[in-house]
Parts: sequence; C-alpha cells; structure tokens
Amino acid sequence: MEILFVASEVAPWSKTGGLGDVAAALPRALAARGHAVSVVTPRYGSIDPHAHGLHPLHRALDVRGEPTTLWVSRDRAPVYFVEHEHFFGSRRGLYGEAHDYADNAERFAYLARAALALPAALGLRPHVVHLNDWQAGLVPFLLRHEHARDAALAGARTVFTIHNLAYQGVFSKHVVPALGLPWDVFRYEAMEFHDQLNFMKAGLVFADALTTVSPTYAREITTPDGGVGLDALLRHRARDLHGILNGIDVAEWDPATDRHLPARYSAADLTGKASCKAALQRELGLPERPEIPLVAMVGRLADQKGIDLLVAALAELLGRELQLALLGSGRREWEEVFQRAARERPERMAARIGFDEGLAHRMEAGADLFLMPSRFEPCGLNQMYSLRYGTVPVVRAVGGLDDTVEDYDGLNRGTGFKFRDYHPQAMLLAVRRALETYRDARAFRALRLRGMAQDFSWDRSAQAYESLYRSLAGP
Ligand code: ADP
Ligand code: GLC
Repeated sequence: MEILFVASEVAPWSKTGGLGDVAAALPRALAARGHAVSVVTPRYGSIDPHAHGLHPLHRALDVRGEPTTLWVSRDRAPVYFVEHEHFFGSRRGLYGEAHDYADNAERFAYLARAALALPAALGLRPHVVHLNDWQAGLVPFLLRHEHARDAALAGARTVFTIHNLAYQGVFSKHVVPALGLPWDVFRYEAMEFHDQLNFMKAGLVFADALTTVSPTYAREITTPDGGVGLDALLRHRARDLHGILNGIDVAEWDPATDRHLPARYSAADLTGKASCKAALQRELGLPERPEIPLVAMVGRLADQKGIDLLVAALAELLGRELQLALLGSGRREWEEVFQRAARERPERMAARIGFDEGLAHRMEAGADLFLMPSRFEPCGLNQMYSLRYGTVPVVRAVGGLDDTVEDYDGLNRGTGFKFRDYHPQAMLLAVRRALETYRDARAFRALRLRGMAQDFSWDRSAQAYESLYRSLAGP
C-alpha cells in the first residue's frame, strides 16, 4: 500500500518526546513490510539540511498559490521536509521557546496543506493518509474540503493517531477565517470546543479511523477522567478507535551495540552493565558504589509524568540507601527542587536539566531501577527501553505502562513494580518492594533477565496498523 504519514516531529531531526521516535520507527517498519511510506514534516530552523544530509527537491509544492520547496532524506521510508522560512525555518523551537508560538494554528494549518499538496506534486497516490496528534488534525477535513477533485488523493482514507490527548491545539475562534476555514466548521459537531477551535477534535471528528498508542489508554480516554473534555466524542466513535501499542526501535536501543555506552552487554553477559553503572556514577558525580541501587528517571518535567509525587516523596526517598539520577526539563520550579536536592545531597542525588540523548541512553544502561510515576501515560517508551536494558521499571499502572510492565509477584513472574493510587505513599511502597528485591541478588537478576527477554520490536505493531489500513482501503 501507499501511505502518507504526517508528523510534526521525526527523530533524529526533530524530537521533543516519544512522537519523534514513533514517527521515525513506524514508517520504517511499514516500509520493511513492503509498503511505500512517505513522511512529511517541517524543516525547523534547528535542522541544518547540509549537516543532516538532506537533498533539495527541485519540484515546487503549491500551497494555496504559494510555492514552497522541499528537502528529502532518502531513507527506506523517505522523509520530506517542508520549507517555510517564516513558519519553520526561522524558529529554533518546534512549538515554542519558553512559550508556545502565537501563530501555531497558522503554522500547522500550513503543514496540513503542504502535506496534502505533496501527492500531486510528487506523483504519489496514497491509499491511506496517517495523521499524528493535533498538529496534523486539520488534514482529514481539508482532504475532503479542498482536495475533493484531486486525482492523487482520490479514494484516500485517513487514520488519526492520538499520542497525547492532553495537548489538543486549542485556539481562539478568530483564527477560523485566518486559516481559510469556512465558519461552518465552527459547530459542536465539528471543530468547536468551548467557543474555541480545537485541532485535535477536528482530527477525531473527520478521520475515517482513530488509533491511540496503547489498549489501556484507548479505554481511559473514553471516560470523563481520562477524556480531557473529548470523552463523549471518543465514546461516540468507540467503534473506530483502536489501541495499538507502540514498539521501540530495537536497533537504536540495543545495549549490545549502543554507541552512546562506555561498555556493551546483553542478557548472556551482564558484566558490561556493571561498567556502565560505574561510568554513570562517575559522569554524574555520584559515589562510585556498585552495591547501592541506582534509580533513574528521564523525561519531560510536566504534570503528566507524576513529578509532584516524586517531589512529595523526595526527602523520604533520599533517606533510603539508594542513588537517584534525574534527567529532564520542563517546569522551572521542579527543575530547581531537583537541583537543590542534588546540591544538598550530592552523595544521593544527581540532576541534569536539559535534553541529552546520549545521557538518556547511559542512564537506561547504568541504572538498576527506572521510575515512571505518571499521572497518565498514553504509551511511554522509557519503560520499554528500561526492560530491554535490564533496568527494572517502577511504574504507575496507567495507560501503556500498565500494558507493558507486569508486576513482580515475589517469586518468578513479572518484569517490574507497579502501583495504582496516585499518592506518594503508594509510589514509595513500590520503590520499597523494588529495593527489597534488589537485595536478593538472584531474584533481581532473574527479574532483569525476564525484562530483557520481552519483545517490543515494531513489527507486531506495524502489522496491526497494516490490518487497519487494509480494512479501510477495502478490497
Ligand atoms: P513523552 O512522549 O510523553 O515525552 P515517551 O516515554 O513516549 O514520553 O518518550 C520520551 C522520549 O523522549 C524518550 O525517547 C526519552 O528518552 C526522551 N527524552 C525525554 N526527556 C529527555 C531528556 N531530557 N533528554 C533526553 N531524552 C529525553
Ligand atoms: C506521547 C505520550 C507518550 C507516548 C508518545 C509516543 O508523547 O505522552 O506516552 O509514548 O506520545 O506515542
């Protein structure tokens, strides 16, 4: 099948979170199954075409009478980078710097229209146009409204994937005419949301099929608790909503070959993991002690990630015999809490504020335990990276975390530690169980190995998308 995949971030060129990883890996996995997949994304200012090996395409794209150029990365699934100096090229951030850019509605409406102009310009005939998150939310409507007579898109069906319902792309209704949308879309049954324009809702209303990134999250978002105001709509479309678990890029995240690590290892021989731990302790300025459990956390310091639980439990946690290593950035006050704790307890805690791909890999490899106390988690990738790296996850049983981690039963089953209540004591209890198990070297080693034996490669998920595409495209 021919598939056009639209995403606002694609690793390694642009990434603020898991979407970038998925938009890189899923198209490749589909291409490996024999499909012709093209990916469309912006050429942000942070992407230097020359340094990143992109080639200019000399065929102009006509976006509502405005010509633009494209860059391409000739991958197994080619990635097309849309050029727009004002909207993308001149911006250092993807969605903002400190604050969201004021013209994000215009920027991503532009991406939507550029993506739809691509098939005619390049001679593609996609059977399926696959959209990701609110940034691509206008595509299904624009496809029907502005491309009804476009032969390149005739019969194309749309799939819209929710990676995170908490970010919906909600804008003042004044943008409706500025975006060239008819006022007709500003209805409750279409894109209107509490008197504002909602890009995510646009995707959910107009796409032929909806997916999200884990089965449990697919259920959670149809409830008032998890639906972020869109649960009624999602219940209405429940028959078209599928939960398909993300995979991970098992080549990029492989402790046996990982170029970011000081030593490599596998389930057959874990000695390299001990070297990674020692090196990580040195890198972070923690005492180099092999016997002390090292707990890691990597991620956006956002409400979603349960950071308030960690903050509430921090003093008690640091009173235990453990080391805590944190890598992340986000809410300023939390960054400061962790930096202060690291200054006050340098033998117990290290905090690195910022985004550091290499360090994220070294933390996955060097740690013993990996903490993800998320308030909600559509899928989550880090717990799967952890399992693959023999680092035992301690997670809250929500969304994809619940689907990918099996609670340790104290004997010979399970891959991690789970807690349910969103409460610091519940988290601390799970950490305590993990620390007790850590002291039993044999049991802990068996736990690590069970995690390492799990298969989270993309192929299974790619098959699920493939069946969905086929069911839409008809015979
Ligand atoms: P989300 O998309 O909600 O942020 P995921 O777990 O799906 O959560 O994906 C997060 C991705 O971003 C992972 O690949 C993780 O390693 C990476 N990541 C998050 N924060 C950082 C950081 N500060 N430095 C390096 N990588 C990070
Ligand atoms: C979102 C979610 C995360 C998920 C990722 C990729 O950013 O927060 O849970 O893993 O998208 O689908």
